[in-house]
Amino acid sequence: MSQDARRAPAGALLALLLAGCSGIQTTLDPAGDQARDIDVVWRTMLVVCGIMYLLVMAFLAWALWRARRAPASDMPVTGETAAEPALRRGLAGWAALIAAGLVLLTTVSFLVDRSLAEAGPDPLRVKVTANQWWWQVEYEGALPSENVLTANELHLPVDRPAIIELKSNDVIHSFWVPNLAGKMDLIPGRTNYVAVTPRRIGAFRGQCAEFCGFQHAKMAFDVKVDDATGFEAWTRRQIASAPDPVSPAAVTGKQLFGSKACVMCHRVQGTDAGGSTGPDLTHLMSRSHIAAGTLPNTRAALQAWIADPQGIKPGTKMPRVELSSSELNAVVAYLETLR
Ligand code: CUA
Repeated sequence: MSQDARRAPAGALLALLLAGCSGIQTTLDPAGDQARDIDVVWRTMLVVCGIMYLLVMAFLAWALWRARRAPASDMPVTGETAAEPALRRGLAGWAALIAAGLVLLTTVSFLVDRSLAEAGPDPLRVKVTANQWWWQVEYEGALPSENVLTANELHLPVDRPAIIELKSNDVIHSFWVPNLAGKMDLIPGRTNYVAVTPRRIGAFRGQCAEFCGFQHAKMAFDVKVDDATGFEAWTRRQIASAPDPVSPAAVTGKQLFGSKACVMCHRVQGTDAGGSTGPDLTHLMSRSHIAAGTLPNTRAALQAWIADPQGIKPGTKMPRVELSSSELNAVVAYLETLR
């Protein structure tokens, strides 16, 4: 076998291992200060525990090898032997090594724990409220008319600390964006906080990390980290009310939306729809996914979702609304104007 041929499988294996360490939902690819700190703890633990494991295995192998060579009758039963001072020194060294490893682990985790509790200066404040099974996201503007209300998508500016205020409307959930920070529970009747300072522009995925009922697995959200200008522009678009639909299908769709059960649960700013049981839909089409990360936000997925939400996400609060296929098309045509 040539050297190149031998190197190829090793290279492929390394590439595979490294591929497992990157992605939009992994702690091994930190994209923010808090995730990076947690990564330091993980690497320290891996190195310290890895060294200890290898040492224990090496001593075990050595002891087994020695025991085979020395017959049991040769072992002294009582009294001090010439080997004992060396054994004592060895044990003392071993104990010192264990103590040093534990002190290192304790110090690193203490320092990281402290840094996780602190947000930087001038933090952005975002309110996230968990519901079975979706996320409401709110940004408070300088004026009430500048508040942003959205769902299942968290937008953050890069290099600016953010404090995320976490609440729950029903049961205990857990907010987790592995690339940015650790987990934090959302508990009914209590407010928790998690500090996040994103350091890389990009799209990430968050996931509810506490079993919260039937559709716990389908309770994800998108996280989009943008530069300051991009974040500003996004905020400005989100503040705007929904425009009036123009096409006949969309006009009919809006009427249907307002006369069927949709309006009971969803809000569309600038219209009479003001429900809060389900996600705000004012800028629905600006989002990448629907039904909390369950489906991509496409026309076909919207149609499928409205036609049979219980089939796609059994147990969701969204009921199946009786619509003919032309009515369904009209409602989707209206939703598509919500950009
Ligand atoms: Cu919400 Cu699991």
